[in-house]
Amino acid sequence: MKASICPKYGTPDIIVMKDIAKPTPKENEILVKIEYALVSPSDCAFRTGKPWIARLFSGLFKPRVSVHGEMYAGVIEELGSNVEDFNVGDRVYGSNGMKLGSYAEYSCVKDTTVIRKIPDKIESKHIITLLDGGITALPFLRDKGEIKQGQEVLVIGASGSVGSFGVLLAKHFQANVTGVCSTTNIELVKTLGCDDVIDYTMVDYTKLDKEYDIIFDAVGKSSFGDCKNILSKEGRYLRTVPVLSTMLKAVFKKKQKGKKDLFAATGLRKPHQKHQDLEFLEELLITENIKPLMDKEFSLEDNIKAQKYVEGGHKKGNVLISMKQKGEKNDS
Ligand SMILES: NC(=O)c1ccc[n+]([C@@H]2O[C@H](COP(=O)([O-])OP(=O)(O)OC[C@H]3O[C@@H](n4cnc5c(N)ncnc54)[C@H](OP(=O)(O)O)[C@@H]3O)[C@@H](O)[C@H]2O)c1
Repeated sequence: MKASICPKYGTPDIIVMKDIAKPTPKENEILVKIEYALVSPSDCAFRTGKPWIARLFSGLFKPRVSVHGEMYAGVIEELGSNVEDFNVGDRVYGSNGMKLGSYAEYSCVKDTTVIRKIPDKIESKHIITLLDGGITALPFLRDKGEIKQGQEVLVIGASGSVGSFGVLLAKHFQANVTGVCSTTNIELVKTLGCDDVIDYTMVDYTKLDKEYDIIFDAVGKSSFGDCKNILSKEGRYLRTVPVLSTMLKAVFKKKQKGKKDLFAATGLRKPHQKHQDLEFLEELLITENIKPLMDKEFSLEDNIKAQKYVEGGHKKGNVLISMKQKGEKNDS
């Protein structure tokens, strides 16, 4: 099978295409024929081996696994002898954790990882995005932000994967949402349902004469200190990209009075918590006909281009690798 291989840590150019043996599922594994794999900033971080501390898990001197790609959607091709609850031919999506392996035509995943059947009404390319922006923005807004109807919410990075889900979810929770983005993304961000949009290249939102109950910085481009000015008395500042002070507050569970500075490592939550959130998000896609923000699709051979594009930091929503050959349609 064709696979995109990352032999060492480095820039996107170190990636090579190889023909490697198609894996065979062990007794508790599921062989998935991959249709789509997601390319996120954290996938780029696996490739660069940065931050260095992450190498304790991904491999000290070179990546422990050479086929990268955490999140996938596809169809079950074969089941290990002990796998229950799934059938050959099921459309599934999931996240293979540190074992990665989605940048290939096939991947073997454990039945205990986050793997779920795709409901009939949802397209594979849409549902895969729940594994990144969806299950990040939801726990931030619902659990850390305790978002409520009618609250004023500012989403910084509304054109990104996490931020666009931040807008969609805050609207679901009936908040008044202001999105922060660059000039080129204003119209796009409006389509997500924002009540207001701020162009950060023209306006310094930290100096506005306005207060927000929740400020969700999805891209780590602001600071709690600067945003305090526009945070309501009991307001919550949520950031997906930690700085040391926020990390320490989170690790030592420091009680904060008044305005709060909060971080969560949502990716490290237990599989059962992720399953619960994915069930909720799937229902939302179906009942509210929500369409995740989709950007470019690249072929597996063009993974270098995909990685460069995502690493550039300007993607609009979600970037996918599609296993579709030229002229061939995906199964879903
Ligand atoms: N804490 C967690 O558990 C967790 C989980 C998932 C992801 N993350 C992290 O969350 C971050 C966001 O991920 P993502 O995939 O959503 O990122 P992304 O899609 O790559 O974000 C890029 C978007 O942000 C916009 N942007 C850039 N600078 C901006 C600024 N100063 N103000 C407002 N918007 C700006 C870009 O457009 P323009 O350049 O045109 O403005 C682009 O649309 C990543 O660092 C990721 O590692 C954390």
